[in-house]
Amino acid sequence: MLYSVISCTFLFNVILPANSTEREVRVYSGRHYNTDRSVYKKFAEETGIKVRLIEAAGISLVERLKREGKNSQADLILLVDAARITNAAKANLLQKIESSSLENDVPAGLKDPGKEWYALTRRVRVMVANPKVVDVSKITNYSDLADPALKGKVCLRNRKSPYNQSLVANQIVNKGQEATKAWLNGMISNVSQPFFPGDISIVRAVSKRKCGVGLVNHYYVARMLAGVNGRRDTLYSRKTSVITPTPAHVNISAGGVAKYAKNKAEAVKLLEFLASPKGSKGLAAPTFEHPLKEVNQNQIVKNFGEFTPDGVTVEELGNNNAMALRMMREAGWD
Ligand SMILES: [Fe+2]
Repeated sequence: MLYSVISCTFLFNVILPANSTEREVRVYSGRHYNTDRSVYKKFAEETGIKVRLIEAAGISLVERLKREGKNSQADLILLVDAARITNAAKANLLQKIESSSLENDVPAGLKDPGKEWYALTRRVRVMVANPKVVDVSKITNYSDLADPALKGKVCLRNRKSPYNQSLVANQIVNKGQEATKAWLNGMISNVSQPFFPGDISIVRAVSKRKCGVGLVNHYYVARMLAGVNGRRDTLYSRKTSVITPTPAHVNISAGGVAKYAKNKAEAVKLLEFLASPKGSKGLAAPTFEHPLKEVNQNQIVKNFGEFTPDGVTVEELGNNNAMALRMMREAGWD
């Protein structure tokens, strides 16, 4: 596989409603946010369906599903990133479901035309810059990261990150292969240090002036500013500016019913709940993501500016993932 295993630790947790019945749904989740549990709890209270949660990094969940095959206990699969969910469908780990409520609640472009997966939340790939290192007014779009004026000043997360793979796929769809290749070559030649392991480390490096600008998902900066990661990260993040490109590349977290789900009806019901306006907001509000149809109302996120999604569908991002990876490798993106 192309991804590395980030974590093999599986947390097992049972959330019981007040009047538990025999009905249950087992969720394999790559969404590593404790706040999701309150949404499951609400679902359990409203429906009487128990939610059993198994959390792990997205790729290890996918590997586990492949290994378990027909014996898998998973009913509902939740993953972050367009490439991960579309690859799960391609690997035949999901099944087609018929649900008018999902079709109504999930906007076009954020769901599988084959009805195997549906987006639940949205996240914007933004640029984070240090005004003391770079001229922020000259950086408005992803393409500006290839500007020779930024020589030695660009920090990037490593190629394994599906977030960057999806951004490159997005640029392939928007601009074509030739322009994307030129952009990659220019941007990579502006990188002067080893590629970073995560988005948070990019924000820290930018704030410490180890570089001037990097690419991150917007909610990482929001979480740091809000103090979720502790005071030191709050101070770091305050030294940075977030630049939201117009239009912006929007990625998703998404869910689908497992191929061999033993509790299919319950899994569909939970997926419908999570994709509903109330459910999507319940997932996205505390994590600083955006719900499917609204914008996160937290002032920290609002300060990043409005964003206009560039219209590339999640399906297109998935279809261009292999090409994106190949082009990243060829450009020297390690
Ligand atoms: Fe993330």
